Amino acid sequence: MSTSEAQIRPLGGCLGAELTGFDLSAPLTPERAELLRRAFYANPVLVVRGQELAPEQLVTIGKVFGRLEAHSILHYRHPEHAELSYITNVDKDGNVDSFGQNKRATDWHSDGSFKAHPDSVAFLYSIAAPSSGGATEFCNMYAAYESLPDGLRQRVDGLKAFHKRGEGWRCESPPPPLTEAQKASGEFEGAEHPVVITHPHSGRRALYINPSHCVQVVGMERAASDALLDELVAHATQERFRYAHPWKVGDILFWDQRCLLHRAGRGTPAGEKRVMLRGMMVDRLSEERIAA
Ligand SMILES: [Fe+2]
Repeated sequence: MSTSEAQIRPLGGCLGAELTGFDLSAPLTPERAELLRRAFYANPVLVVRGQELAPEQLVTIGKVFGRLEAHSILHYRHPEHAELSYITNVDKDGNVDSFGQNKRATDWHSDGSFKAHPDSVAFLYSIAAPSSGGATEFCNMYAAYESLPDGLRQRVDGLKAFHKRGEGWRCESPPPPLTEAQKASGEFEGAEHPVVITHPHSGRRALYINPSHCVQVVGMERAASDALLDELVAHATQERFRYAHPWKVGDILFWDQRCLLHRAGRGTPAGEKRVMLRGMMVDRLSEERIAA
């Protein structure tokens, strides 16, 4: 860290860190933006607590990591800032939103892996948090790859897999249907990516598969592909690779889509609100080279 008071404090065993002494509502000078980027690329789940941030400020902060992309589910977009979207269990009339409450994004996934240029980085900013439950879980795909048995690592190096939105080999809670305009846009036709990617910033290798959107290993029979992907995801999602973040109002958490899986928190007590704003970014390095 530089001359500021910013410090990193680990939160979990192999994942999760808190950046303290850093006020995100203060102007993001080039030096401060660089400090935030560096802290993040060394800690792919990075939390800053106690922040009071307006939507405009969240957009500015997101741009530190790349170009903001609007979410494919139109219903949850912020009315004035389409590049931000809500994760909420409350509908616009104040009633419990049953889809947002317990059905959304509960499978392990990486956002946008079905796109030619998948999302790189995302943040969640907590506006209302339950008294218990509702933690968001992450797992570390660097550590998962690095700890694969030698034989399995050699089998997956060089493979590619096809990804398509909500058609993953173990997708149990698919996202809502696309609109006709989205279907016609050609943006949701799916994409191939290496099963093991090299992260464009860290240079480290990570497993890049997820049960929600990863359909099949290219050139492999479906049954064999399912068996291999099952083996990989069972290894990757072991408790020792995970961090679960229990939310407090004012937390902003940044995570890296290229070297982590995540899934939505469960167990929010009935009648309690859980509301967050999310930004999703694609960075130029990632567009240029997510390479095997
Ligand atoms: Fe997600």
